[in-house]
Amino acid sequence: MNESIIILENVSKTYPVPDDKDGLKVLRGISLSIEKSQTVAVTGPSGSGKTTLLNMMSGLDVPTEGRISVAGQELSGMRADDLALFRNRNLGFVFQAHYLLPQCTVMENVLLPSIVEQREGGDLVQARARKLLERVGLERKMNSFPGKLSGGECQRAAVVRALINQPKIIMADEPTGSLDNSTAKVLAKLLIELNEELGTTLIVVTHSEHVAEMMEVKFRLADGKLDSKA
Ligand SMILES: Nc1ncnc2c1ncn2[C@@H]1O[C@H](COP(=O)(O)OP(=O)(O)OP(=O)(O)O)[C@@H](O)[C@H]1O
Ligand SMILES: [Mg+2]
Repeated sequence: MNESIIILENVSKTYPVPDDKDGLKVLRGISLSIEKSQTVAVTGPSGSGKTTLLNMMSGLDVPTEGRISVAGQELSGMRADDLALFRNRNLGFVFQAHYLLPQCTVMENVLLPSIVEQREGGDLVQARARKLLERVGLERKMNSFPGKLSGGECQRAAVVRALINQPKIIMADEPTGSLDNSTAKVLAKLLIELNEELGTTLIVVTHSEHVAEMMEVKFRLADGKLDSKA
């Protein structure tokens, strides 16, 4: 039987705007259920609220109205530190901006979420990091600092960082945005392979039709509403 891993019930988000009492209504009553191990693409015009939607699902921001449950946990009302731990344990997040720490090498950046967690021995995690970095073509950049990497290389390192704890769910915001076509394909393929190998649920925001086509379920966000695409 299918099992929902992310449930949104009537979720709305309105950002306050100075001198406008209505504010900016970005999400308007979105209800959605994502099954465990599903791969999902979210497309939509710039400014339509795709990042806002991911931020809601990951508990990085709170909805104005509605309820969200992730991996059996209702997000609203969770304490900030519990939420941070929950996120680190269950979610891998690839941000639109990569947020690598400039003072740490690629390898150190990638290992950061595993240090917080300390579930596994360091050798095991390092071996996994090495393998993943090889899969995205960064084997020769492991000891480089982000300042010496291209935008696309930073993005690939950020994807590996999101995968290092083998999260149940990966949320990726434009993970292939700054990559050329063939590298984008390699990265999207890696995400799909993780889905196949480990049953990782995958939610990918993308402007790329090609990447969207690789996902089982496709949604389009426009005018605050989410429509499923055939
Ligand atoms: N913290 C905030 N405060 C006020 N307005 C915001 C905030 N974050 C986003 N917005 C506004 O909400 C709308 C949706 O933004 P969002 O970043 O979710 O769009 P997006 O679909 O991810 O766009 P893009 O494809 O360009 O990344 C935009 O008009 C944006 O200016
Ligand atoms: Mg965005």
